[in-house]
Amino acid sequence: MSSNVKISYNNSEVELPIVKSVYGADAVDISTLKAQTGLITLDVGFKNTGSTKSRITYLDGAEGKLLYRGYPIEQLSEKSTFTEVMYLLLHGELPTLNQLEKFERDIMEHCYVSQEMEQILQNFPRSAHPMGVLSSLTSALTAFNPRIVDVKSPEDMYEATLMMLGKFMVLCTWTYRKKFGLPINYSNPKLDYVSNFHQMMFRKPFEEYKVDPVVIDSLNKLFILHADHEQNCSTSAVRITGSSHAGLFASISAGVSALWGPLHGGANQAVIEMLEMIKHDGGDLQKWVDKAKDKSDDFRLMGFGHRVYKNFDPRAKIIKKACDGILEKLGVEDEVLEIAKGLEKVALEDPYFVERKLYPNVDFYSGIIYRALGIPTEMFTVMFALGRLPGWISQWKEMRDNNEPIGRPMQVYIGAERRDYVPMNER
Ligand code: CMC
Repeated sequence: MSSNVKISYNNSEVELPIVKSVYGADAVDISTLKAQTGLITLDVGFKNTGSTKSRITYLDGAEGKLLYRGYPIEQLSEKSTFTEVMYLLLHGELPTLNQLEKFERDIMEHCYVSQEMEQILQNFPRSAHPMGVLSSLTSALTAFNPRIVDVKSPEDMYEATLMMLGKFMVLCTWTYRKKFGLPINYSNPKLDYVSNFHQMMFRKPFEEYKVDPVVIDSLNKLFILHADHEQNCSTSAVRITGSSHAGLFASISAGVSALWGPLHGGANQAVIEMLEMIKHDGGDLQKWVDKAKDKSDDFRLMGFGHRVYKNFDPRAKIIKKACDGILEKLGVEDEVLEIAKGLEKVALEDPYFVERKLYPNVDFYSGIIYRALGIPTEMFTVMFALGRLPGWISQWKEMRDNNEPIGRPMQVYIGAERRDYVPMNER
């Protein structure tokens, strides 16, 4: 196969090199196209554009496969823990027991946030959405930790990573405590990362915290499934923000804001709200599937469809399978699980969804588990953010390690031609 692509334009021919991938599509390197032809490429929404070369995550949308550093998501979600997956994403290899224990101890050193930050937290209204609070507080971390990271120093990079992993987890729990008017809880370094997060979020004042293995295993599974997803909207926001050499806290804050939208991480909240609405409306599934198909109606089936997966999202498969078992172990019955399963069935038999290859995505069933774990709907996207954190950091780190240039897309200008200013009284 040729290692170049030939393009003819204006009676001349240019050759552009092919960049080979390990898996998936190879790419045409168009970086010299403008210099050679005067042309740029146009791809609104980046539907056909690779923004970087990455070693972290591979996803095959046609086959419905997902690998972190080469390991299949099915194996990791079954056998690993969230902390181990964090280590894997950040370092590229699975840790030894010693490495993992040290990593977890090192993160614990940073599981606190300046008390002045608490004053900022208290000044938010209780009505504020937890994701808005989380993004603001993450950005505020910069003010309280102003030291600039030397990205050429592995020690500095490691320290920045630990700070982010420790402090962000604390902030996630703060958004919940604020929402429900509860005093904040401090870290307990004797617990593992996920249990520590859980106790900081839920422990009532003066109550002793007991680890519930069903709850912690379920959280581990969900966090692992969300931990990275290559160049999605929020990760691209993190990378492009960081490409201006903005710091890690500022870059992650941009990621939190991007994740919040209902077409991205905000979909998990939107799914439960949709399922509740369908339940209260009498449960006529065909009616809602028809509404989703109607182009004159803004309603979309939330938790369905994906930019890259044109097959089952492997994460949705795992979560759906886990749902029944987890609800049973927790002794929870949730009517919306049946509505979700029914809706999936009706949609997957409908030619509209079949032709467009629209399948349930990670957000379709995750909220049902969060709910069973006692996590309120408005906190779902915060849970997604905590899960995605190691992915964001790994991607930011890869971008800085590779010394990538500032991200700066171009445009095709279609506005007004040059014209002269018209004074107000002549308009
Ligand atoms: N319900 C009804 N129709 C849909 C849906 C849906 N959920 N998703 C896509 N379509 C239709 C869309 O109208 C379009 O139809 P047509 O070709 O007739 O114009 C076609 O399918 C292709 O959709 P698209 O919007 O061009 O696809 P996209 O790749 O730009 O968007 C998406 C992907 C995830 C934004 C979209 O599928 C969607 O809005 N889904 C609902 C929101 C959701 O569940 N988001 C979570 C995504 S997964 C987790 C994450 O990223 O955080």
